[in-house]
Amino acid sequence: MGWLSKSLSSSIGKKFIMALTGLSLILFLSVHLVNNSFLFFGKEGFNTLVGSLDAVKPLVRVAEIILLLLFVYHIYNGIKLWWENWQTKPNMFARNKYAINASKENSTFYSRTMPYTGAIILIFLITHLSTLWVQYNFGMGGTHEYYDVIVVLFSSIGNVIIYVITMITLGFHLNHGFQSAFQTFGWEHKKYTPLVKAIGTLISLVYAIGFSSIPIYFYILSMGGN
Ligand code: HEM
Repeated sequence: MGWLSKSLSSSIGKKFIMALTGLSLILFLSVHLVNNSFLFFGKEGFNTLVGSLDAVKPLVRVAEIILLLLFVYHIYNGIKLWWENWQTKPNMFARNKYAINASKENSTFYSRTMPYTGAIILIFLITHLSTLWVQYNFGMGGTHEYYDVIVVLFSSIGNVIIYVITMITLGFHLNHGFQSAFQTFGWEHKKYTPLVKAIGTLISLVYAIGFSSIPIYFYILSMGGN
């Protein structure tokens, strides 16, 4: 097993883990977006969905543990890669260690900002889980309705702004992350790479607009006094 940990801790190995965990997290986000879109069906529709997830709680718990491991591994490797990359920077004569990062094409605004957009998403995630997830799983602050927690959360303009800014940041992060994962796997082709890039852009737009539409919708609803 020594060879496995050795190759996974190499810079290419770390990039590989980033790609694999990143694509799995993109998959989670699509499920999360679909689940959250039930909010548009009103109180009954959303409460029924969350209630039915409650009925399969053990399965949800297993999925959450896998999700937690994916996030932790993705973040841990991301910080390590950023740190190693940063350490090579002051020496202008030192060649970048990472063959993949060294390509000129990869050094775009999106790729350079990956650690920063990642850090913003991490801060959001800690806040998101310590409010919504904790409330959903350990008491709802006086309400018994899952839907009402969202109504209260997004009746505050501050929360709406924080969510929308983070969702735009998420879009930037995913736009580069998606195509970079394909590059890491070596799945590059003159014909298909532009398609991968287009799909990456489409996914990031759908997620940024899709997730942002929820706080905006609820804020507009709250202004109407509903
Ligand atoms: C408007 C946008 C979003 C809304 C309304 C929303 C809503 C929620 C809710 C209600 C829960 C609790 C579900 C439960 O425990 O049964 C939850 C959990 C969670 N959210 Fe979000 N979320 C949003 C965006 C995001 C984004 C962008 C991410 C990741 C970057 C994310 C990551 C998570 C994770 C990891 C959990 C815990 C796992 C789970 O229980 O499903 N969420 N979210």
